[in-house]
Amino acid sequence: SNSLFFSVTEMKNLIQSVLLLAMLMSTTGAEEFIYYAQVGEKVTLKPPGVHPQKYVYWYFNGRDLAWRNTMGKTWTKPRWKDRLSLLSDDSLIINNLEQEDFTTIFKFEVYGGPSEYTYKLLKLTGKSKNKYELTSPLLPGDSLSLSCNAVTQGPNNLKIHWLNPQGVKMRPEQLHARATSQDNGQWTCVVTNARQTHVANVFVTVIDLSPAPLSPQYTSKSRPLTVPCSLPPYISWDQIKAKGMQEVHWQFIPEPGSSPQRLFSLSLEDPLTWKPELTRGLRLVQDPTKINLSLTRDQGSEEDRGDYVCTLEFKNVALTRTVHVKVLQITSSPGTELISGQQLNLTCSLGHPLPSDLRLKWFPPKKSSLSSSSLGSGGHPTHLTIPEVGRGDGGKWRCELWQNDTRLTSAEITLKIEPKLSVWMLVVICSVTVIVILILILVFILYQHRQVQLNHSYSFLFDHTGL
Ligand SMILES: *[C@@H]1O[C@H](CO)[C@@H](O)[C@H](O)[C@H]1NC(C)=O
Ligand SMILES: *[C@@H]1O[C@H](CO)[C@@H](O)[C@H](O)[C@H]1NC(C)=O
Ligand SMILES: *[C@@H]1O[C@H](CO)[C@@H](O)[C@H](O)[C@H]1NC(C)=O
Repeated sequence: SNSLFFSVTEMKNLIQSVLLLAMLMSTTGAEEFIYYAQVGEKVTLKPPGVHPQKYVYWYFNGRDLAWRNTMGKTWTKPRWKDRLSLLSDDSLIINNLEQEDFTTIFKFEVYGGPSEYTYKLLKLTGKSKNKYELTSPLLPGDSLSLSCNAVTQGPNNLKIHWLNPQGVKMRPEQLHARATSQDNGQWTCVVTNARQTHVANVFVTVIDLSPAPLSPQYTSKSRPLTVPCSLPPYISWDQIKAKGMQEVHWQFIPEPGSSPQRLFSLSLEDPLTWKPELTRGLRLVQDPTKINLSLTRDQGSEEDRGDYVCTLEFKNVALTRTVHVKVLQITSSPGTELISGQQLNLTCSLGHPLPSDLRLKWFPPKKSSLSSSSLGSGGHPTHLTIPEVGRGDGGKWRCELWQNDTRLTSAEITLKIEPKLSVWMLVVICSVTVIVILILILVFILYQHRQVQLNHSYSFLFDHTGL
């Protein structure tokens, strides 16, 4: 027996199958087949060639196991019945392999010969050495022992190595690490002899949060905010609770060094519920039975800048993911309500100089004296200065943040421009006012004059009639 043990990390696993076939010639001249398989798995023993309309027999240790007659009727030994099936190509499937099957000689014969084949099962075992936590997944930092054993026949010329879930060949001396989320997945034990390669798979589950996004999340007042955090789909809350989860929470850190504000925590009593604390108007995208722990709000705000930390706490380890949020913002100096002719400075920024891989694109209102194309086709400047705004500059200005061909976010500002009263307009307004006043005076004078004349006429009348 050839064995290799190595301690990679703690464990969990389902042992999956193996089996490849080696063909050897035995000393008797009858052909002998060697199959490698794992206990609990199934194996398919396949005789070469086809034998239609012949009696075929399978034996174990010299006794009847299964047969098929010339009419196609099959029979299998009652004790083996639920574990055996005889296929139409004469293959024998043995399910749920047991320890004793590996000491059994299986034989296939065609009645009237000459075909006669012998089959041997050799045991290959890939498993975790930790017997106590077979069904429990690992946490990062736990240790795992994986073992791979292959029974050999004849001279021991087997070579054994492991492939990690990324398919990288692992040498034993490199395997003394603590579990990380990279260790999650299928480990493969590879056994090689002169002729064949045999593999045994072991599944390892490592509980961890999904990786945080590599780049920050961008938002603005005119865009939604989403702060992602989730568990990988192969992990359930039950597994997490079974590992001794103590707390789940979200925190917000507005600036490096400032004290964290707690946004939400998960109450561990059944049913799981999120307890809002200082929510900042954020909400969870899903109810807590799901594995998506992301936060969201329909609109970003300037105060959203900062780090958001999603934490799963266990007794000895805390799993955290930090998401950086950046806010794009347009500011206008001297303000958003201007009089045409004023100088205007517009700034579109994240609150710090733009990294070299990001660029801005301005979209002025349609009638603006500035057009998007006049700003150059590459990156547009952070600051725009318009020496004298015109009425066409009023309306919605948009600024977009781009990385290569991806628009990360966009911000908007609406400017209101009032017309300026020019000297000419003042002259016109004053003239009109003067004219109106003159007309009023004239009307008044005429009216007065008329009243005087009328009174005069009446007195004339009285005087000359003697009344
Ligand atoms: C979680 O929800 C957010 C918002 O609906 C979505 O963008 C994200 O893709 C989801 N994540 C997973 C892992 O489902
Ligand atoms: C606009 O910016 C320039 C220099 O960048 C500055 O001299 C000027 O005072 C600013 N104007 C306003 C209205 O802020
Ligand atoms: C952007 O493009 C550059 C070169 O064209 C490339 O090296 C870089 O990886 C790209 N960045 C992203 C985030 O796609």
